[in-house]
Amino acid sequence: MSDDLAGPVQRSVPSPRLLSGNVHGGRTRVRGRVALLLLGGVSMLLGLSAGLMLLGLPAPITAERLLEVHGQLMIVGFLGTLIALERAIALRRAWAYAAPLATGVGALLLVTPVPMAVGLAVQAVGLGILVTIYAAVWRRAASTALAIQWLGSFLALAAGLLWLAQVPTGALFPLLAGFLVLTIAGERLELAHVASPRPGAARALMLISAAVAITSAAALLWPTPGSELFGASLLATVLWLLRFDVATRTIRSVGLPRYTAVNLLLGMAWLAVAAFTWLTLGPQPDGPGYDIVVHAIGLGFAMSMVLAHAPIILPAVLIRPLPYRPVLYLATFALQASLLLRVAGDVRGSGWAWQSGGAGNVAALMAFVAMAAALVIRR
Ligand code: HEM
Repeated sequence: MSDDLAGPVQRSVPSPRLLSGNVHGGRTRVRGRVALLLLGGVSMLLGLSAGLMLLGLPAPITAERLLEVHGQLMIVGFLGTLIALERAIALRRAWAYAAPLATGVGALLLVTPVPMAVGLAVQAVGLGILVTIYAAVWRRAASTALAIQWLGSFLALAAGLLWLAQVPTGALFPLLAGFLVLTIAGERLELAHVASPRPGAARALMLISAAVAITSAAALLWPTPGSELFGASLLATVLWLLRFDVATRTIRSVGLPRYTAVNLLLGMAWLAVAAFTWLTLGPQPDGPGYDIVVHAIGLGFAMSMVLAHAPIILPAVLIRPLPYRPVLYLATFALQASLLLRVAGDVRGSGWAWQSGGAGNVAALMAFVAMAAALVIRR
């Protein structure tokens, strides 16, 4: 591993020794973490099934409720659970695990016959605990990178409460996008700091992040100017990442650092697609433009980041290495190609391309899960 990545990884993810059961909590705690990871995985599988149903394609699970809760399953049930689990592990306090537990269990409740408000409320509680985790970490070690991620968690909590108040996803999606973007940008700032501390860089990202948070709320209240300004803030985030993120340098290395950088840069490109769409076309609460912004952020940006960070984060959760192998690029290219096809389908009004691209998205994510599981088990 290059020095560029070796340092940050040690900082942002507690070392396997620190995380091992011997040091705090024993095997039970490790099993608990794996169970929470699986809870997020089940949410993703349910969300993918819902995605196939929304495309009008055959799906393995076809509960009627799935059609209404695809966004909650994917963003809070899957990504929210992963983020909260990573933060709980870093905080090393038993109560913090209640955050991924609630976001994951809330997601499962959403597909049961209990009233939808119950699942949404449990998820909102989980997001509230995530905000509290950041507060506890802040007391231990305040930093700009943490402040940015903390701000992101407030946006997620706001979205969770607005879902409870029955505000449609199309209207509040900028808050969810802000949550994902600020969480990831804050984590990248930690890495950029170690690789090349530049005066003013952290302050600039803090200002941009404040703009992302304010304009995501403005997009909800005043859709046209708010969405355009939100797009501009996201574009500023992309420019900051291109200027300061280590990925622009590690792309020239080999092995894992290059694999990580490829996925990161592709993720930034998709963030730019969403940003340009909002900036030039204004609000996208439904229709093909909605499909583009939602999945440029949810799949192109966030899932590329998951692929990029999985070989670094998963070992910290599982206490087993996920060895890098070039075969992992297959999932990257499948995700990119299928998302391009899907967006082309949206732009040209081709139902065939949209459906095939969407089905390809599901296949790409499943291929990644299968490869990662095989690599962890074989190792
Ligand atoms: C991987 C395969 C996926 C497929 C096949 C899929 C499919 C779909 C479809 C067909 C829609 C309806 C689009 C529309 O109304 O215009 C949709 C909406 C949505 N998707 Fe996905 N999606 C996938 C992944 C994701 C991911 C990874 C995320 C987020 C992390 C996500 C978040 C959303 C959200 C928030 C909505 C809006 C839901 C609503 O308005 O209720 N999707 N998806």
